[in-house]
Amino acid sequence: MPIDAANPVPPTFERHVGMDQIPAHVPQDLVRQSGLTFGPEFLANPHNFMAALHEKQPPVYYDVSPMGNMWHLIKHEDALFGLRHPEIFSNEGATPFPRDPNDYFYFIPIEIDPPHHRKYRNIVDPVFSPKGVLKLEGLIRQRANDLIDQFIDKGECEFTEEFGRPLPVSVFLDIMGLPQDMRDTFVSWAMELLHSNDRERMGAAMMSITEYLKDAIAEKKANPDDGVVSLIAHAAPDGVPLSDKEIFGFVCFLFIGGLDTVFATLNNIWLYLARNPAKVQEIAERMDNDIDRIVEELLRRWSVTFSGRVLDQDYEMRGVQMKKGDRVTFVLPACNFDPEVFPNPLEVDFDRPRKTILAFTVGVHSCMGGHLARLEVKIALQEWLKRIPSFKLKEGTHIEYRPGGVIGPEEVPLVW
Ligand code: HEM
Repeated sequence: MPIDAANPVPPTFERHVGMDQIPAHVPQDLVRQSGLTFGPEFLANPHNFMAALHEKQPPVYYDVSPMGNMWHLIKHEDALFGLRHPEIFSNEGATPFPRDPNDYFYFIPIEIDPPHHRKYRNIVDPVFSPKGVLKLEGLIRQRANDLIDQFIDKGECEFTEEFGRPLPVSVFLDIMGLPQDMRDTFVSWAMELLHSNDRERMGAAMMSITEYLKDAIAEKKANPDDGVVSLIAHAAPDGVPLSDKEIFGFVCFLFIGGLDTVFATLNNIWLYLARNPAKVQEIAERMDNDIDRIVEELLRRWSVTFSGRVLDQDYEMRGVQMKKGDRVTFVLPACNFDPEVFPNPLEVDFDRPRKTILAFTVGVHSCMGGHLARLEVKIALQEWLKRIPSFKLKEGTHIEYRPGGVIGPEEVPLVW
C-alpha cells in the first residue's frame, strides 16, 4: 500500500470483532475463540498455553475475540516467511492502539512498509546498534548495582518494583532525554494502553501520552539536546525535515515499544530462576564463557510479544485461503515453541543448536531495541547473580499475569 507518513489517513479496511463478524471466506472449522492474551487459561500460565497451541490448534486458525478477529499463525517457518514478505503481510494499520481519526498519525517505524520504512530507521539505528548501545554498558551496570544496594540487606524485594522495572525504564528515559521523575507516570500510561484490554481506557491513556509528548517535542525543538526525542525532532532525511505528525508518531511508538517490553522479559526470567535453583547454578558456572547463548535461550523461552500484520493481497497458506484486508497475528512465543524447530520447547537448554529466535521478530521491522534489550538482560543477570547468587519466591506468593500484548507476571516477590 502506498503510504505518505507526512499526511496520514486512517485505514479503510474494517476491524471485525466477535462471532457475528466473521468474514464469509473463513471456513467454520477454522474458527476458534482461543482467549490468547486475556482468557483464564492463558492468564493461568501464558507460555505453557502458547506452547500447547501446537497440540490443540491447527497451524493457521481464525481467532475470534472482543479485541478483534484475526488469523493466528503459530509455525516458526510460516513466521519467517510472512515477516520477511512485507509486500504480502503489510504493517499499515496493523497496530491496535486507538487514535483520533480527525488527528490521525502513523506509529513510526512500525506502521510504515518498505521502501519508506528505512528512511526512519536510519535516523535512530546508530543509537541502538550493537556499537551504539555498548556505550551504555557502564551506566547500566552502575544502575543495576545502585538498585541492588537499596534492597540487598533486607533479604527480600518485589522484583518488578525494585529492579526489573526501574532498571530498563530509567535507561530508556536517559536515551530518550525524558525526565526520570516522570518514570512511574509513564509506566502507568503504558500499562493502561497495553494491558487494560478496554478501548475506552486505552483511548484515555493515549490522550495523556499525546499531550505529554507533544509538549516534550516542542521543548526539544526549542532546546536541542543529545537524546533521541531531540534527534528525531531535528531529523531531516534527504534534507527534508520530518513533519510534526512524523515526529510525534515516531517518538510515540518508541515510548510504547521501549517501556514495558524489557521489564516484562526480566520478570518472566527472574520468576523462572526463582523456581529453578539448578539453572541459577548452571548460569553462574557458565556465565564467563556462554553468557550470549544463555541470554538467547532465555529470550526464546520467555518471549513476550507478537507481530500484527494486515494482508495486502489474497494469500493461501497451508491450504487456508486468506483475503486482502484480513488481520494476522504471528504468535511469536508460540513460534519459539515450535517443536519441529525447538524440540522439547519448554525446556531451557543453553546447548540448543543455533536457530533464529523470534522474540524480536525478523525482517524489516525487527526490533530496534533488540541489542539494548539483550545487553540489559545480560548485565542484569551478571550483576544480580554476583551479589545475590541464590534466591527464591516468597512463600505464599500467587503469581498473576496481566492481560494484553506484552506478557509478564505482575509482581515477583523474592527472598534470599
Ligand atoms: C525484551 C525486550 C523487547 C522485546 C521482546 C521487543 C520485541 C519487539 C518485537 C517483537 C517487535 C516487532 C513487532 C512487529 O513485528 O510488529 C519490535 C519492534 C520494535 N521495537 Fe522492540 N522489543 C523489546 C525492546 C525494545 C526497546 C527497549 C525498544 C526501544 C528502545 C524497542 C523498540 C522497538 C521499535 C521502534 C520497533 C519497531 C521496529 C520497526 O518497525 O522497524 N523495543 N520489538
